[in-house]
Amino acid sequence: MFVSIVFGLLFAPLLLEASPILPRSTPIRNIFTFPNNTFIENIRVRSNSDLLLTSMSVTTLFSIDPTVSTPNPSVLYTFPNATGLAGITETTPDVFAIVSVTWDLVNTRAILGTLVVWTINLQSATPIVHRIANVTNSTSFNGIASIPQSPHLVLTADSAIGAVWRVNLPTGKYGIAFSDPLFEPISTAQGLNLGINGLKIKDSYLYFTNSAYGIFGRVAIDSYGNKLSSVEVIANITNSDTTGAHYDDFALDKEGNAWIATHPEYVVKVAPDGEQSLISNETLLLNPTSAAFGRGSKKERKMLYVTNGGLFAGNDLVDEGVVAVDTAYF
Ligand SMILES: *[C@@H]1O[C@H](CO)[C@@H](O)[C@H](O)[C@H]1NC(C)=O
Ligand SMILES: *[C@@H]1O[C@H](CO)[C@@H](O)[C@H](O)[C@H]1NC(C)=O
Ligand SMILES: *[C@@H]1O[C@H](CO)[C@@H](O)[C@H](O)[C@H]1NC(C)=O
Ligand SMILES: *[C@@H]1O[C@H](CO)[C@@H](O)[C@H](O)[C@H]1NC(C)=O
Ligand SMILES: *[C@@H]1O[C@H](CO)[C@@H](O)[C@H](O)[C@H]1NC(C)=O
Ligand SMILES: *[C@@H]1O[C@H](CO)[C@@H](O)[C@H](O)[C@H]1NC(C)=O
Repeated sequence: MFVSIVFGLLFAPLLLEASPILPRSTPIRNIFTFPNNTFIENIRVRSNSDLLLTSMSVTTLFSIDPTVSTPNPSVLYTFPNATGLAGITETTPDVFAIVSVTWDLVNTRAILGTLVVWTINLQSATPIVHRIANVTNSTSFNGIASIPQSPHLVLTADSAIGAVWRVNLPTGKYGIAFSDPLFEPISTAQGLNLGINGLKIKDSYLYFTNSAYGIFGRVAIDSYGNKLSSVEVIANITNSDTTGAHYDDFALDKEGNAWIATHPEYVVKVAPDGEQSLISNETLLLNPTSAAFGRGSKKERKMLYVTNGGLFAGNDLVDEGVVAVDTAYF
């Protein structure tokens, strides 16, 4: 199953030639490029196939239909009194929990006291938004995941102190669920200052990435998000064909593979046994920050939507957005 960069180099021209008669058969295609300085951070997909995108640079929740020929974002909601958004997760059908913050960009943290957890209900045409919690004592709710057996609870990844927090959405109560040395950052230096980052829950395991340590792992949890096992490392970026790469957030597929958005130009597929395959593309994967599978048709369910943080060009961040990786090719 190993698909290397060589696959891309050898076969991409053939696929390109075939693409005019087989529409949308490109392994990776651009969906939308946002204006300069709109760092795209996180993604979830609605049951109607629309992509929900958050940006660290603006407090707007964007929606894009990726199934049309010219996808274009619309503004679903703009959150008040913050500078950006972070993670998003679906709690019950078409109800999402989302985090807004005022960023301390230099330290990649929120300014203490500015982190707010919200819910946004998209079941009707006008979103219904509730302010759930003003978090006074964390500077980082990065990845966020709803617990399937307890949709009133979400877990969040504190990349700064190396902890998983639990937020009770109906009551607004929050606190640390558990911490672990494997969740911690290494230092305050760039590239080493984000510990636990992405979070996903599947079959009573909490899967996570730690960007600083470059690991992907899991821990068994109960339906309240309490830890039931020691933390297990499944993959380690230093054992892949990359140097200087950093895992960010990820998506899990039905077979149990993780597809990890990895800086600067990768998606790393990690099989349940830990074997890593690299998808590398320096023109379309531009500091990937997160990934989510499409929903709806069979074709959509094979499509991995990857958000790009973008590239630094002078003082600007350029080419940030979202691309579609057709996993049928990988
Ligand atoms: C990047 O992806 C595009 C579209 O699939 C392809 O045309 C191009 O050859 C890829 N580049 C590399 C370096 O693989
Ligand atoms: C806006 O944010 C500031 C700084 O975090 C805070 O002091 C103030 O109470 C907030 N106002 C509202 C309306 O949320
Ligand atoms: C959060 O802060 C805002 C602005 O200061 C305030 O209006 C709101 O009541 C607070 N909510 C909670 C749940 O504490
Ligand atoms: C954070 O603040 C909340 C609300 O005041 C409190 O319940 C919780 O125990 C605090 N947690 C930590 C780790 O300080
Ligand atoms: C990752 O792999 C490297 C190289 O084998 C090793 O030195 C490091 O301890 C591993 N990290 C973890 C957290 O397992
Ligand atoms: C985006 O940033 C680049 C790099 O600084 C700059 O060349 C370009 O003109 C900018 N685009 C717009 C529309 O401002």
